[in-house]
Amino acid sequence: MFDITKIARPNILKLEPYRCARDDYKVGILLDANENTHGPSVPDLTDNETALELNRYPDPHQEQLKQQICDFRNSEASLSSASVKIPTVAGQKVPLNVSNLCLGVGSDESIDALIRCIVAPGKEKMLICPPTYGMYSICAVVNDVEIVKVPLDLETFQIQPDLILDQLEKDLSIKLVYITSPGNPTAVQIKPVLLEELLNKVQQSTWNGLIVVDEAYVDFCEVGSSVSVLVNKFPNLVVLQTLSKAFGLAGIRLGICFSTPEVSRLLNSMKYPYNISNLTSSVALRATSKDALVKMRQRVDLIKEQRQIVVDELAKLPGVGRNIGGLDSNFVLMEILNKEGEPDNEIANKVYLTLAEQRNVVVRFRGKELGCKGCLRITIGTKEENETLITQLKEVLQEVRK
Ligand SMILES: Cc1ncc(COP(=O)(O)O)c(C=O)c1O
Repeated sequence: MFDITKIARPNILKLEPYRCARDDYKVGILLDANENTHGPSVPDLTDNETALELNRYPDPHQEQLKQQICDFRNSEASLSSASVKIPTVAGQKVPLNVSNLCLGVGSDESIDALIRCIVAPGKEKMLICPPTYGMYSICAVVNDVEIVKVPLDLETFQIQPDLILDQLEKDLSIKLVYITSPGNPTAVQIKPVLLEELLNKVQQSTWNGLIVVDEAYVDFCEVGSSVSVLVNKFPNLVVLQTLSKAFGLAGIRLGICFSTPEVSRLLNSMKYPYNISNLTSSVALRATSKDALVKMRQRVDLIKEQRQIVVDELAKLPGVGRNIGGLDSNFVLMEILNKEGEPDNEIANKVYLTLAEQRNVVVRFRGKELGCKGCLRITIGTKEENETLITQLKEVLQEVRK
């Protein structure tokens, strides 16, 4: 049976969250936090910025924002079309609530925080499923944590639950598993049934640790397929989301970590108290309002429409091979072929460099990732940007494959 007190690092278990006088007293003449009560020394603040009281420390708890995020995911999971529903535990529906959330400076902050929370540096390990997002490895190195790899199935880019479980049972020093769904750079959503299969098997095993599902791109998938609502059913599950992708807010740095109230309490105790700025929370609150969610969905539809056009146009270009990934994100993973018609890293890298240096179009070379030979990862832009990409890529391919 999963028990967070058996896996969290003892120093973190003992940690009491930082407390400030503002936790108890929020109004009055506020002379408790060594702020500058004269206000910001910026001469041309807009009225909106002034209203944010930028001379004051932000709210460490962000309950209103957390509630809005829970409402959003609960409502999606309540749709009749949802493939992942709000779980029922002991006969009662258990929707997400604010105690399930910890907010971070992008999901990158939570990726690092989870490692620091439960993986002992120099002793314990974490597991990743390549090809995958690069920050897991960077955070592992920073935290002196060894990485164990169980690749995705390289045909389907789905996880292999039995291989993961074998590895976990063989090596109980693995404390954390990172799964990306939809994957980066694969753009394939991991089937929720496969994730549930893994979570069920893990619950019955001797292994004690956390399975983190990074859903940075989940809003490009079918509405109602996020597994975030399952954190109250599977105590091992942690789900990461972000406003950086479908919400178009990479600049505000707002990441969301869903987990059981017990895990969430630890993460909230560890975090810097004022990690979410007044500017960020003000924009995030507006972005998760009902009206803004409608707009987010419209934008996602637009991106999906453009994605199909890009895929169709790319297929016509000599030198472009298959889209080896899926269509569950706002990018595609395209093979670049040599004259013999094979995916080729040298050609793909040359195309990447020429596009960036001579044509002002920046895509990402991913050919060195496992199972991604000769691939470029191409983000779907605006109609005009996509048209330019296609025109420039066509010319560059002719030049480079001569
Ligand atoms: C899979 C995945 N997770 C997390 C992130 C980081 O997101 P954030 O901007 O919230 O730190 C990215 C960004 O590219 C990503 O691809």
